[in-house]
Order: sequence, then structure tokens, then C-alpha cells
Amino acid sequence: MCGIVGYVGKRNILEVLISGIKHLEYRGYDSSGIAVLKNNKIFRHRVVGKVFQMESSLPKEFFSNLKTTESVYVGIAHTRWATHGKPSEENAHPHVDCNENFVIVHNGIIENFLELKLKLKNHKFSSETDTEVIIHLIEENYNGSLLEAIKQTIKLLEGSYAFVLISRYQPQKLFFARKDSPLVIGVAEKENFIASDVTAMLKYTNKFLFLENYDYGEISFCEIKIFNLKSENVQHRNINVINWNSQMVEKSGFKHFMLKEIYEQPQVLRENISSRVFGEKIIFNEEIKFKDQMLKKIDKILLIGCGTSYHTAVVCKYFFEHILRVSIEVDIASEFRYRDLILKKNTLAIFISQSGETADTLASLRIVKENKIPTLGVCNVIGSSLYREADSCIYIKCGPEIGVASTKAFTGQLICLYLFGLYIAKIKQTISSNRYLEILNYLYKTPTYIEHILSDTSYIKQLAEKFYTKRDFLYLARGINYPIALEGSLKLKEISYIHAEGYPAGEMKHGPIALIDKDMPVVIIATKGSLLQKVFSNLEEVKSRDAKVIALTNYGIESKSIDYKIVLPETDELVSPIINVVPLQLLAYYIADILGCEIDQPRNLAKSVTVE
Ligand code: G6P
Repeated sequence: MCGIVGYVGKRNILEVLISGIKHLEYRGYDSSGIAVLKNNKIFRHRVVGKVFQMESSLPKEFFSNLKTTESVYVGIAHTRWATHGKPSEENAHPHVDCNENFVIVHNGIIENFLELKLKLKNHKFSSETDTEVIIHLIEENYNGSLLEAIKQTIKLLEGSYAFVLISRYQPQKLFFARKDSPLVIGVAEKENFIASDVTAMLKYTNKFLFLENYDYGEISFCEIKIFNLKSENVQHRNINVINWNSQMVEKSGFKHFMLKEIYEQPQVLRENISSRVFGEKIIFNEEIKFKDQMLKKIDKILLIGCGTSYHTAVVCKYFFEHILRVSIEVDIASEFRYRDLILKKNTLAIFISQSGETADTLASLRIVKENKIPTLGVCNVIGSSLYREADSCIYIKCGPEIGVASTKAFTGQLICLYLFGLYIAKIKQTISSNRYLEILNYLYKTPTYIEHILSDTSYIKQLAEKFYTKRDFLYLARGINYPIALEGSLKLKEISYIHAEGYPAGEMKHGPIALIDKDMPVVIIATKGSLLQKVFSNLEEVKSRDAKVIALTNYGIESKSIDYKIVLPETDELVSPIINVVPLQLLAYYIADILGCEIDQPRNLAKSVTVE
């Protein structure tokens, strides 16, 4: 899961490349590097650490002879999340061939690299990476045509790759190939860009060509040529205009992207509601290509995702069961893909992924598709693999999410799937008109309720100050809020490195209760709902073991056993997860901030997990 950028044009190449990979640091940040071609020579610089460290240590020779607006420059840059080989200068990208004629940046994993390396005995390798094998293969296969060398090389590669390379032989061009790792071309006037993600290029263009598996080709400042391994013809790819702007990938006065994204949630919810709800009607237009007849027959729904997107799936299990009365199966994509699945007709499989590029989620999607089961994607990135490969895809309209810990994408996914659930419930007639309108009405109110929470976060900050030294937290809830306990605990561990467990409150006495003592903060979701009395019994059990109880409640809910109360606007139980998650995002954020953690880029984590 690395970030790659390439540029060809007359701008200040260092500025374009460095700004590009800074926007991709969410994908990895163990080490970074850059290479540009000047005077027919490759200049390369690599460091262990973040992009700013690479930028501040750029040798003088990079700046000399860089006359912008006169010459066309080509260059590539990379930010790494180590898979093969520890973070070190030698393992950092870009990598060169033996004679420094070619230089490459790569995202993905070459699964047969050891085997290929054995065949390249006469080549000198200088890193432990799988990537290096690609550039030596290109050197080996080069016979005057770089495109041909790339074609011959990718035929040999197993695994996933998105790579960009430049060469002394064709100094005004970028070359590329992709399979199972994202790669997007940014199209502009007399200059072109290529990167793992559009966010790296938004400052310069909003026109993009999304590459497909087995695509390879070349880009000059005025021309883009795409070929595909499966066919000999030059490929046509539509230009997509994305209505994101560069402001969206800036912090805009917030200390961290995560905080900005938490605060963007009311807007995200409004955008998704207002573009799909018209009076009492929910309309999905082209997003949903399934016929009503087909949706009517659905008697089973699979919900698959990873990380926070998996938690969305679990919330939706409860919601869909209630309003659709069909059987629901939820799974983590990395488990689902290796199960001995029983897939029957009249099933709809829903794949949830913010990035639309999570490797396990995509692998699961492909298995289901092979079995001819209709698939629905839910994602935030137009043109992503999930967006293109699922039969239909709901776009969650969150704007770019940069913080590694997902926040607005979670509530964005929920609102979209809730609307989708109501939409099918109407078709299947499994919901009364009153109940439909009641839920819709509460969904309308969610942005205002979240704004209310965000308007005064001082109490949550005080709690963070009180508890930031604790080493373990327990999050408890029941029913549709159980996945919110999972999500709250995930947020805390991701960004503060404090151990936290989310548990169904009723299951606590089968294990976690043994951990509870006076030092253990227990966050319990006790908002109004059908299981509130049960939650209260669990709360008593926790309190009798001397835990410090922090409860998410509504006005009028009282208990002597609650030590700290976060009072939230009251809503329908089914809608409450969308509200309840917000204070838990804030609690995790403020704790991590007090601890001085790198909130937007937590250690060992990456935003987009494009490897298995
Ligand atoms: C990584 C990210 C999480 C995210 C998960 C799934 O682990 O750090 O924030 O929830 O991947 O990502 P997806 O893009 O598929 O939603």
C-alpha cells in the first residue's frame, strides 16, 4: 500500500511530485523517494521517513538546471508502506536497473518475485524488495521498445502492481502498467499526471482516466496511449470529471484531517439525503441498475467489508433484518474470501469500502460475481475498482477522506445503506408507510443532531483529559449499537495505541468482566431503545467491579452507576448508531491528541489496504 505519482510537463517538477506524494501519505509513510530525469541522467533521492524529511534533504543537484516553462520534465515519486523488506534507504523507491537507464515506482506485491529473481542471476540487486525484479526484467526485455519490454514483463508478473517508470531512452515520457492496484491518469492541457489516487492531482486537474487491469502504456505532455495485455488495440478510456477540489484535501484550519472529517459529517449526511430523497420518495437513479422485480425477490443479503466498513455492515445487519425481513449474513472480507461459500440465487451481495480498493473486499466481490450473484458496491471513490466492477455502486459523496481512521465515510456509508434499505423495503412492501416515514424523518434530523454534538465538545475533551493515561478501555453496547462499541474501540486503538475492546454487553460476563477493576474505564452505550433495561443490568455488573463508567445516554436516563454521562439527542433506536458514533470518534481523537499521537497517520496503518 504505497502511493505513487508521476508528472510530465513544464511545471516545477519537484513541487508537483512532492505535493502529490504528500497527499498520498495516508497510503504509507515508512519511507519516501523521488527521481527526475535531467540532462539525460536519472537523479534519485530516497530516505527513511516521511515526505517532508525527503523534501528537506533533497541534494542541491536536484535544483540546479531546473528551468520551468522552458523544458518538459518527467519525474516520479513514492511514499512507502513496507511489505517486502524493512523500511530502509535501499528498500525505498524509486528503484533502478543495473545501468540506471530505467527507474520505477511501484505499489502492490509481486508474488512470484523470488522465482523471477532466480532467473535474473546476471543482474545486480540492491534491495530486498519485490519491486526491483520488475525493473531488472524491463532491462532484460528491452530491445529498443520500452512498451514492448513492459508488455513482456507484465506477462511474467503474478500478484498486484501499479507502476510508473521513466527512462533515459525516452526522456519525455512516463510509462505505466496496472493490475489489482489503483492507478489514475490526470489529464490537463500540455501536461499530464499519473498517481495512485486523484487526491494527488486535484491541485492541477479534475479530469481523470481510471486505468483498468492489464492496462499499460505511455504518457507524454500532449498524448496518452493506453494498451491492454488482453487486446492489441489502443484502448479508449472515458475521461471522468470529478467535482472534488484541492481545498477538500487541505486541513482548512483544523489541527488534523480526522477532526476536519468528523466535523464534515453533517454536510455529508445532508448531501446524501438531499440528492436521493425527494419528498417521501427515495430515488437512486443510475446508481442502482437492478430491476424492482429482481429486488423484490431478494431473500438473502450478504454484507462484506473490512475495518470500519465492516462495522457499517454489522449495523446494517440489524437495520436490514428489521425492515426487510430477509436473512442477512455479514462477514469480514479477508474471512469471506476463503470460506466454503454456499451462494444461492435471490441473494444480493453488498461490498462496502471507502476507497473501493481494499484487496480482500475486491477479491470477495470477484468470487461472488463468478457465482453470478448480483453485487452492489458502496464506496467513496468514483472510478475505483469496486466502483467499476460491482454491478451497481452507491457513491457515498463524502469528499476525499484523508485521515487513516475512517469517520465521515462510516456515517456516509450508513446513511446511504439506510436509504437503500428503505428503498427496497418499499419495493418488497415489508415496511408500513408510517414506519417508513418515521425512519426517514429521523434520518433527516441526523445532521442537525450531529451538529448539536459538535457545537460543544468541551465535556468530551474533559473526559479525554481524565482518561488518557489508561492503558485499557472496554466499550459495551447491545443490539444495533453493538457495532458502534466495536467502532468506538477501533477508533481509540487505531490512533492512540491504547488497548480497547468492543463487546456485546450481554457477552461481557463470558470473559472481559475478568479484566474489570477500578482502573478500567468502561464506555457503555445506554441510549433509548428496546434493550435499555438489559444494558442497565450490564452497567450494574460493571459498576459492582468498580469500573469507571462513561455512558452515552439521552436526557432523562438516570443511574447512580454512571460516573460520566455524555448526553445525546434522542432519536429512533434504529437511527441511533449514526449519532452515537460521533462522541466516540471525538473521545478517541482528543485522547490521541493529548498523547501527541500522529493522528492522521498512525503507526503501522495505511488508509487503503491494497495488499492481502
Ligand atoms: C484500513 C483503514 C481503515 C478502513 C479499512 C477498510 O484499515 O485504515 O480506516 O476502514 O482499511 O478500508 P475501505 O477503504 O475498504 O473502507
